[in-house]
Amino acid sequence: MAFFKILAIALSIAASAVAQTGTGALNNSLSLTPAMGWSSWNQFGDSINETLIKETIDTMEKNGLKEAGFTYVNLDDGWQRYKGNRKDHPGPIEADPVKFPNGIKSLADYAHSKGFKLGIYNGPGENTCAGYTGSKGYEAEDAKTWASWGIDHLKYDSCCSHKDAPDSEVQAVHRKMSESLIATGRPIVFHACHCGWADIWEWAAADGANQWRIGQDISDDFNYPGNREKYYFDVLDMLDRGANLTKYSGPGHWNDYDMLIVGLEGKSGQLVGTGASDIEYRTHFSMWSMVNSPLLIGADVRTLSRASLETLMNQEIIALNQDPLGLPAVVVWEADDKSAQIYGKELQDKSYGVAMLNRGSSTREMSISPRRDLTIPWDEYRVRDLWRHKDRGPYDVPFGVEVMAHEARVFRLSNVEDAA
Ligand SMILES: *[C@@H]1O[C@H](CO)[C@@H](O)[C@H](O)[C@H]1NC(C)=O
Ligand SMILES: *[C@@H]1O[C@H](CO)[C@@H](O)[C@H](O)[C@H]1NC(C)=O
Ligand SMILES: *[C@@H]1O[C@H](CO)[C@@H](O)[C@H](O)[C@H]1NC(C)=O
Repeated sequence: MAFFKILAIALSIAASAVAQTGTGALNNSLSLTPAMGWSSWNQFGDSINETLIKETIDTMEKNGLKEAGFTYVNLDDGWQRYKGNRKDHPGPIEADPVKFPNGIKSLADYAHSKGFKLGIYNGPGENTCAGYTGSKGYEAEDAKTWASWGIDHLKYDSCCSHKDAPDSEVQAVHRKMSESLIATGRPIVFHACHCGWADIWEWAAADGANQWRIGQDISDDFNYPGNREKYYFDVLDMLDRGANLTKYSGPGHWNDYDMLIVGLEGKSGQLVGTGASDIEYRTHFSMWSMVNSPLLIGADVRTLSRASLETLMNQEIIALNQDPLGLPAVVVWEADDKSAQIYGKELQDKSYGVAMLNRGSSTREMSISPRRDLTIPWDEYRVRDLWRHKDRGPYDVPFGVEVMAHEARVFRLSNVEDAA
């Protein structure tokens, strides 16, 4: 640990020297809790512009999302001026002057003036997934440009340009950008996005990534039978995908379960999927919080329903995601047929977050026992219901509840002795 800290200090002093060496662990010391905010892609694709982003910022300021912690406003693909190969468009990368007539720096200033952070997107190839010019050969220059604009977050997407590249090459292109960002001296959160391929969790943290996707794109479905179009992961697929990867996730380096589908209601112009019910969206939000995924809203915040806003702004659920201890929840119990699971995790104050997840199609009884399921020797414990906002207990027997189909009941358990 001390070694990483010393290295991090050395990096910030002599960042450009490190950029030349290309070895050793990189650490920008950012994102000690998962990033929270909004990203443009799931709803708008590349149809983004200054008016939309400013309206998004204004709305998130007024409707409470900013207050709840959603402060990153991230432009995804499509902000760039040119389509085609970067080598045909040499020189500094530019924003589309029609979509962003005042440029990105003025937009970043606007975001910062309102207490938000601005994120941007690009990729390591000649072009990006949507066909805009990538950063190939211009990594250091682009990092400097983004830093000069006041950018706070980069999603660097190799899913299309490096889909068939060897793992070592995928690692090298992400490391190059990571070094380039650190060399700018500006704190820029680095999302290394490779759609859950190349065992990215094995190496991305040491290459300075603050988060990486663990799977292909999410679809706007809770549980679609089969693998949608052989590519998309629904909510339960993504959860299962992450279940064996929790050891890679922690402060500053998170497994990313992909952007939130809450509020898309099957109307996304980009994602496949027919939408989910309010209960299912709530379960999805609870579970992303339990496993410490970054929480990036994908829906149009200007038209979110009351139910979606209530889901997204549950401070007691968000606290599980933002807990400083940074331990992702693991499965502590599951039914033989996997139709129900209990996820649990320890929190900074020694309490435990617990989610009882009913994956099946009918209501069922579920129960939790700290001794049996969490292997903690508590005699008496209290239960806080994080969706009903009620205190229960104390109990010295297992605590049981009814859980509806596709519902997650989420609780915070604490030892009565710890409180005494
Ligand atoms: C990076 O540094 C932070 C503290 O500054 C630490 O919590 C985190 O674990 C470090 N990341 C890695 C990959 O070592
Ligand atoms: C900005 O983008 C939004 C969302 O795609 C669109 O509805 C709107 O017409 C655009 N506005 C301008 C000025 O281009
Ligand atoms: C997780 O690991 C277990 C045990 O090694 C294995 O049985 C299971 O298939 C794995 N799950 C996934 C989704 O990879």
